[in-house]
Amino acid sequence: MLVSAQEMLTKAKAGKYAVGQFNINNMEWTKAILLTAQENNSPVILGVSEGAGKYMCGYNTVTAMVKGMIDTLGITVPVALHLDHGSYEGALKAMDDGFSSVMFDGSHYGIEENIEKTKEIIRLAAEKGISVEAEVGAIGGEEDGVVGGGEVADPDECKMIADLGVTMLAAGIGNIHGVYPENWQGLNFDVLAQIQEKTGTMPLVLHGGTGIPDEMVKKAITLGVSKVNVNTECQLAFAAATRKYIEDGKDKQGKGFDPRKLLAPGFEAIKATVKEKMELFGSINQA
Ligand code: G3H
Ligand code: ZN
Repeated sequence: MLVSAQEMLTKAKAGKYAVGQFNINNMEWTKAILLTAQENNSPVILGVSEGAGKYMCGYNTVTAMVKGMIDTLGITVPVALHLDHGSYEGALKAMDDGFSSVMFDGSHYGIEENIEKTKEIIRLAAEKGISVEAEVGAIGGEEDGVVGGGEVADPDECKMIADLGVTMLAAGIGNIHGVYPENWQGLNFDVLAQIQEKTGTMPLVLHGGTGIPDEMVKKAITLGVSKVNVNTECQLAFAAATRKYIEDGKDKQGKGFDPRKLLAPGFEAIKATVKEKMELFGSINQA
């Protein structure tokens, strides 16, 4: 069964660990992440960007696929199906189509408009028991066409948005989508500490989870981060394993060209990446 992210994140915040959000792109991604969560008794959040939602033929198709897999694979750990960096319209559509959680990324609006739109999403989500993530400041870099300037969040604005009743809050603290540049300055822990102080028990979200050094991730969790988003790292792992399979000529041996064989190394690479992250975040055996 799909659940809202509320309970799993409240538990994570209290227990000082984080739940991973892993973005999905297709059947292999979804199955790999669900199986890894079940094998490790970990709660999990499946992230769907608007671009990935279109690629998978719409949110309704994604919901049906995920629900079908939960049922057929016998997944019993808590699973939230979450719209990642949703527009206002996208969030409404995902809620109609059965997602159990949505992010409304209003970071490119002025604070007043961000507040108005976030309020409306919260009102509609509450009617259906859906969790809501809001963003303050901006995550740098680009993810699936969503470009952010990397502005560090203002802790007072974070409090204002948190007080609206969102379930979780993403704050820009120097984190970037995609691979970090060599001259990256690291996460701004001073700002994170101020945000945590102002927002209290609110679960905080760390985007751009790919390539952040383990020690920084752990420190962020001690400062209130309860959800960490990972996307690019699974893509890199999948691509490397698939490339190796082809370069080794395995696609030319026997029935190695069969897509079920061709995609298997990438599938296993996603599972290994997700398990490693769950260990780092401390979510194993927290289901
Ligand atoms: O919203 C998703 C993420 O923030 C993922 O970022 O691709 O850098 O891991 P990433
Ligand atoms: Zn993100």
